[in-house]
Amino acid sequence: MLKSPIHAAGILSLLILAGCGGGEPADPNAGSEVLANGLTVKAQIEARQDGYKTLGRNFKTINDQLKTDAPDLAAIQGAAATMVEASANMADWYPEGTGPESGVETEALAAIWEEPEDFATKISDFDGALASLNTTTASGDFEAIAAAVKATGATCGACHDKFRLDD
Ligand code: HEC
Repeated sequence: MLKSPIHAAGILSLLILAGCGGGEPADPNAGSEVLANGLTVKAQIEARQDGYKTLGRNFKTINDQLKTDAPDLAAIQGAAATMVEASANMADWYPEGTGPESGVETEALAAIWEEPEDFATKISDFDGALASLNTTTASGDFEAIAAAVKATGATCGACHDKFRLDD
């Protein structure tokens, strides 16, 4: 029942976005619809952005530590574990109606909902790489950790390339 008006608005806002080169629609009431999970569209989008901020912050902690002469293994382990926890349900961050058509500021592209299988693959590639990074941190082998960090970063980038708006 809530899907078709959102859809119509989506097509409209896509046209508007295309027309003015990517400005954000400034409707303060956008995203007030309530989703099946009880969150408003806006709250869902913000929660997902917070999730990614947590990922970004903790990934930076790991990268920064690896650049030092004496990396702090406990800090690396803690950050990797936090990343696993923060991203556990990433697939649930994307209910229908939380894309660019919502009118809420988001970098999520419509392709997420148009190519759900590929998006799910990107999530599982990421989950796999992060799980092995997390396991590798137990070894204390900084070279192996650095390799796992690189592999994980590649899965972040692969998803961003296709499914996140370019900065
Ligand atoms: C399966 C796809 C996918 C994966 C994997 C992924 N991201 Fe993202 N990321 C996105 C999308 C889509 C957005 C835009 C979300 C929005 O604005 O609603 C985003 C947004 C972000 C943001 C901006 C958050 C904000 O609003 O300030 C950061 C930072 C980020 N991602 C970091 C990462 C890092 C670091 C990784 C890997 C450790 C990662 N992402 C993995 C899809 C992904």
